[in-house]
Amino acid sequence: MEKGAEISLKGGPELFENPVAYCDRYYSFKEGSDVSSHQVLQQRLAIFDELYKRANLANARIIEFGGGPTIWSLISAVRYAETITFTDFGQQNVDFLKTWKASGSESYDFSSLIRYAVADVEGDRSESAASERQDALRSKMAAILKADVTAADPVDASLVGHFDVVSVHYCLLHAVKTHDDYAPCLANLGKYLKPNGLLMLSEMLGCFHAQRQYEKEKKEGDEKKEEEHHGNDHHGDQQDGHHHHHHHGQDHVERSKQFIFDSVKAAGFEVIEHRLIAREAPVMDVPGARDASSWTTVAIMARKI
Ligand SMILES: C[S@@+](CC[C@H](N)C(=O)[O-])C[C@H]1O[C@@H](n2cnc3c(N)ncnc32)[C@H](O)[C@@H]1O
Repeated sequence: MEKGAEISLKGGPELFENPVAYCDRYYSFKEGSDVSSHQVLQQRLAIFDELYKRANLANARIIEFGGGPTIWSLISAVRYAETITFTDFGQQNVDFLKTWKASGSESYDFSSLIRYAVADVEGDRSESAASERQDALRSKMAAILKADVTAADPVDASLVGHFDVVSVHYCLLHAVKTHDDYAPCLANLGKYLKPNGLLMLSEMLGCFHAQRQYEKEKKEGDEKKEEEHHGNDHHGDQQDGHHHHHHHGQDHVERSKQFIFDSVKAAGFEVIEHRLIAREAPVMDVPGARDASSWTTVAIMARKI
């Protein structure tokens, strides 16, 4: 495969531009939210609750990368945290979380999500548990920063070796545009961990936006070529259900479970635990989304070695 081959990813899903719409759809229990997502949300809250319990941390420094405009991954985590450094590439998400932390009148209401996590998932139904958790989240979220995970130094170099946990969920599938860049990107995030620090990672298997964009461009390119060399059959061949594309030198391996595990290892981690979450319906109605099995989540806890 050609090093540095790059797929252009224009824009990305519109929902990422709109924190309120994104959270309403995926992280609320309001009308119009994605009910099929709730089932998966319930599972990922439960999984990371369990993984954090197992990690047995205390006063941990946690950094979230690509946190989006949401806090789901930190609700259980905050019980073990001293401080949380929250980051995302989107300025709108950074602003949104800052407003939420300040808890002003324009602040988004995550209380139904937090109550769901604390009462229904963790099982703490006491009167004040959810509101105390929300307060803890707000006060421990010490910094909210704009950070590009693909940059040489996503956050300040003074933070190298500073954290007990790097948390990154459903971000790299959007941010990392080639397969070759995946493990190096993860390794670069790993440099912010102390020795033996933990990686908490979620990925969606078999589907990522750069790939869909690539497929779209490939298809358009092929159609164009088809017009130019009518009847010539040397490209886009298909064997045994595997697609062998040679456009831009990009290999066409899906981000399979094996790919993610290999990358986590190559990035200098040892997988301690993992869980798979299948879903019954696609997350988003987007072209290129294949059957529901394309939307399996892998949740990983790994240790830096
Ligand atoms: C599907 S959302 C996931 C958000 C959140 N972690 C969650 O679990 O809902 C993908 C996030 O990745 C962020 N993102 C995309 N490219 C990025 C980059 N290069 N660096 C950091 N974050 C990025 C987007 O802003 C978006 O918030």
